[in-house]
Amino acid sequence: MAELRTERLVLRQWRDGDLEPFAALNGDPETMRYFPAPMTRDASDAFAEHIRRHLEEEGWGLWAVEVAGGASFIGFVGLARPSFEAHFTPAVEVGWRLAREHWGHGYATEAGKAALEYGFAELDLDEIVSFTSPLNDPSWRVMERLGMTRDPADDFEHPRVAVGHPLRRHLLYRLSRAAWAVSGADG
Ligand SMILES: CC(C)(COP(=O)(O)OP(=O)(O)OC[C@H]1O[C@@H](n2cnc3c(N)ncnc32)[C@H](O)[C@@H]1OP(=O)(O)O)[C@@H](O)C(=O)NCCC(=O)NCCS
Repeated sequence: MAELRTERLVLRQWRDGDLEPFAALNGDPETMRYFPAPMTRDASDAFAEHIRRHLEEEGWGLWAVEVAGGASFIGFVGLARPSFEAHFTPAVEVGWRLAREHWGHGYATEAGKAALEYGFAELDLDEIVSFTSPLNDPSWRVMERLGMTRDPADDFEHPRVAVGHPLRRHLLYRLSRAAWAVSGADG
């Protein structure tokens, strides 16, 4: 499978040793404040196994992120196919989830850029999307730093979040291959 390298990071296949720090970040209420609930250890392990199998079978996915010469696991960044139906699916999304102590270093943006490059240059995708709650400023700010753009007409109600829940409404950001080629491929 593809291992991606950036200036400071390695995006790699998951290892057994990642499960414990992954469960810690998935169980942290602050990290998970824009999700309906933190995850249990079992749910976190099952999610990691699902991600690992996808990477193994497809060669791409939600890579485990390591700081080169530093922390061996800080979270995940990568590409996935949303598993729910919405007006923009089927699609490939770029997403991220990092442990709190690794926020504020530009790691999500740096790894996200590498994932976009892989999606456009290696997978030949025409478009990559990303979505989050309007309340999740840190996440949509990563999308904007990556050059993704939002049309309010694309906003949607996430079908996996309960009707009436404050996190149900989502913003959709898109990046086309053409826009990436003009603005993103150089960095
Ligand atoms: C979303 C999330 C990954 C964003 O992390 P982040 O650290 O804010 O984003 P980046 O890695 O792009 O870092 C950007 C910040 O690092 C700062 N920074 C510091 N050093 C930097 C460097 N060398 N290069 C670039 N930016 C740097 C930037 O100024 C910016 O800070 P600011 O937001 O205060 O302006 C993180 O909040 C997270 O994991 N949240 C929980 C899970 C989640 O909600 N995931 C998204 C679901 S849709």
